[in-house]
Amino acid sequence: MDILGIDIGGSGMKGALVNIETGELITERFRIPTPASRKPKEMAKVFKDIVEHFDYKGPVGCGFPTIMNHGVCKSVGNLNKSWLNLNAQNLFSEACGLPVTIVNDADAAGYAVMNYGIGKGEQGLVLMITIGTGIGSGAFYNGVLIPNFELGQIPYKKYKKIERYAADSIRKKEKLSFKKWGARVNTFLELVDLIVCPDLIILGGGVSKDFDKFEKQIKIETPVKPAILGNHAGIIGAAAAVSF
Ligand code: BGC
Repeated sequence: MDILGIDIGGSGMKGALVNIETGELITERFRIPTPASRKPKEMAKVFKDIVEHFDYKGPVGCGFPTIMNHGVCKSVGNLNKSWLNLNAQNLFSEACGLPVTIVNDADAAGYAVMNYGIGKGEQGLVLMITIGTGIGSGAFYNGVLIPNFELGQIPYKKYKKIERYAADSIRKKEKLSFKKWGARVNTFLELVDLIVCPDLIILGGGVSKDFDKFEKQIKIETPVKPAILGNHAGIIGAAAAVSF
């Protein structure tokens, strides 16, 4: 079954048709930058444009960068504060005239990795950590998703949330070397290790393709592996969300 998956981030909104039996992208990825306002109306318009680009009619799966509860945003992440308590699922569905299923973006990426990628068959507590504009996390116990783990929200020193210290957007903003930034990621992972003691951590998001550039800085005992599906995991997992 081919489903349109749309992965929404703070910097880009990306879609592709995905074969949800195999987890493969069957079209090129189509990306539109997230509107600078990061507001609902503007983002709903881009959502519609992505659906129209694929001339698609069918259920749409979507990964969204806030805590999601039955389609409603229960946090705003790095988006505009007007998303709080808004039913994003209804908003996008009305914008494109198709049924939309929406889940947290890191949960979606984790689902892809656990079902079609490097996490397949992994038992125990596996964490998918996505590092991009923010830091997202998806938790799986014996392959079953525990939704809305929000490890990027841990306060750290003067930072209200550690994603403001260790996200990839911060590396770019502060022009940090991979070595310096990698040490920050390690600090984050040390806290994660201390709090939840996972069996395996999988790193996703665009920066996972650069894992070799900061791998040496990652010194925790828990195994840490880059997600082979890389940045496509979000789209694949979003598409698969229609059958969650
Ligand atoms: C949000 C998470 C999201 C992550 C990655 C964070 O700011 O709180 O829900 O998964 O960004 O987009």
